[in-house]
Amino acid sequence: MAEKKVDFTPSVLGSKKYWDDFYELEHKNFVENPEDTGECWFDESNAEDKMCEFIFTELKNLKTSNVCDLGTGNGHLLFQLYEEGLRGNLIGVDYSEASVKFATDIAQEKAFYISFQKSDILFPKDEFLLKHRNFFDLVLDKGTLDAIALSDQRNEDGLTGYQIYPGHASSLLRKGALLLITSCNFTEEELCSHMESSGDLKVWKRVRYPKYEFGGKSGSTICTVAFEKV
Ligand SMILES: C[S@@+](CC[C@H](N)C(=O)[O-])C[C@H]1O[C@@H](n2cnc3c(N)ncnc32)[C@H](O)[C@@H]1O
Repeated sequence: MAEKKVDFTPSVLGSKKYWDDFYELEHKNFVENPEDTGECWFDESNAEDKMCEFIFTELKNLKTSNVCDLGTGNGHLLFQLYEEGLRGNLIGVDYSEASVKFATDIAQEKAFYISFQKSDILFPKDEFLLKHRNFFDLVLDKGTLDAIALSDQRNEDGLTGYQIYPGHASSLLRKGALLLITSCNFTEEELCSHMESSGDLKVWKRVRYPKYEFGGKSGSTICTVAFEKV
């Protein structure tokens, strides 16, 4: 299937500086009040609960596994999974040092065995990417591809982060493993067509959200799709 063209308007949410400032502020708030562990992205759509529910119902054998959260931010999704009983090699990565410091401090405060590392998942020589090829059983993304798509930066071959992302995300998965992505910037159709364009990712299952109806059309404001590495 040919990939549908998607229009992008660059935004500050696509810049590292934005996220550094964002997590520095969240970290400062946390130091003042350790109960304030930051914003839960897409909370209004219940996305985190939906992702956790999907993982625990659809992936019952995943009690201990190698799990990575791409663009982990304050690590909220991994903390939620840990609280609900997920164990194993749980790693959150982010290109913002402020995010890594913040999430690491929360993990220490909660005494949770989750590690956080710096990684720019679009950089081909990134140490984390190179070290973890074909390694993970489950890779998560909540809002990270969305943020990446808002950057106008291109690599030396003229490719955008949005174009680079599917191949890099898939390189982390072992064969048969899953990539679970939640997006509010793309329709389910756009997300599926883009991720499948990598050649080795196929739609496995979709998470259902409440649908809205307007002007004879129906849809939802958010989508979560699981892709299998084939
Ligand atoms: C919308 S936030 C989502 C954060 C987190 N997943 C959540 O749900 O709260 C996007 C995240 O992607 C990270 N990010 C953006 N580009 C990245 C890249 N190239 N490599 C790693 N992380 C990136 C940002 O630093 C930010 O933490």
